[in-house]
Amino acid sequence: MQNAGMLALGLDWRYLAFNVHPDDLEEAIQGAQQMRFVGLNLTVPHKRLALDLVDSLDASAEEWGAVNTIRFEGLDSQGAWVPMGHPDADAFRELRSVGFNTDADAILRACQEELKTVFSQLEVLLVGVGGAGRVAALKLASAGVKRLHLMNRTISRAEGVQAEIKARYPSCRVEVGYPQVEVDLLVNGTSVGLNPSDPLPLDLDKVRFSRDASVYDMIYQPAETRLLAQARAAGCRVANGLGMLLYQGARALEIWTEGEVPVGAMREALESHIYGRTEGKRKGSS
Ligand SMILES: NC(=O)c1ccc[n+]([C@@H]2O[C@H](COP(=O)([O-])OP(=O)(O)OC[C@H]3O[C@@H](n4cnc5c(N)ncnc54)[C@H](OP(=O)(O)O)[C@@H]3O)[C@@H](O)[C@H]2O)c1
Repeated sequence: MQNAGMLALGLDWRYLAFNVHPDDLEEAIQGAQQMRFVGLNLTVPHKRLALDLVDSLDASAEEWGAVNTIRFEGLDSQGAWVPMGHPDADAFRELRSVGFNTDADAILRACQEELKTVFSQLEVLLVGVGGAGRVAALKLASAGVKRLHLMNRTISRAEGVQAEIKARYPSCRVEVGYPQVEVDLLVNGTSVGLNPSDPLPLDLDKVRFSRDASVYDMIYQPAETRLLAQARAAGCRVANGLGMLLYQGARALEIWTEGEVPVGAMREALESHIYGRTEGKRKGSS
């Protein structure tokens, strides 16, 4: 996805994967900075650790309490911090790392663009409040949904996120457990469904969907989970987690380049790599 985006932008950059032990994360970030990398993406378990390892935090990383994108910057001759993707970057002597979070916006953008949802009107049921689900819950609360219903295998975890939402977004109505009202948007943030033989992440017989209901599954492999297949059969609009993956990556490339990025080329590369060109479009969303 990133290499396709960089290629389409005509950049001579490369995106590479490195396996770094959490104990070595600080040295890895410093090493990448010394080698004048443009930036980094981080995944679990590094996202929270990196909060204390970068020189500066963007508001997005502070707000969501995790760093999934680092941009390296250099001090230019005018005394301004400039991204290392800048053509004059070779001349910069003083460097720093800045942490960002692009995950939280990605779930909202994916639901907006793929399911055409207008959040202020919605009764939202989110099942699964682990790492990704908690951030989605906070983001949905900040987007001003009508009401948020949280479910999680470990109920105390859902109650913890409920308390966090009440403290941070006091105007958001948030409840724990199966909703007693019709649901407009159901989001699966559990890992149940990653394996095709997995059961449903919740009892669908206990959920009443509204007429235009949508279902979003953060899982993108398999392209159609059991949940999405049943929701589609019940007449719901459905989308899988590919969009979420795409938009967190597209935003990261925007941060590194400080410009518009070719989302279409990036999506095409993702679909091709994960599904073999057309399967994701055909089965993962409708
Ligand atoms: N599309 C994307 O870009 C993207 C990005 C991040 C994550 N994801 C997907 O989101 C899902 C969650 O990822 P994560 O990073 O948040 O993982 P995580 O922090 O480990 O959270 C896992 C969640 O799944 C629940 N769960 C696990 N096994 C379960 C079971 N057998 N029955 C019921 N609930 C179960 C956990 O409940 P407990 O709290 O009770 O353990 C928790 O809510 C994964 O499927 C991942 O692939 C997608």
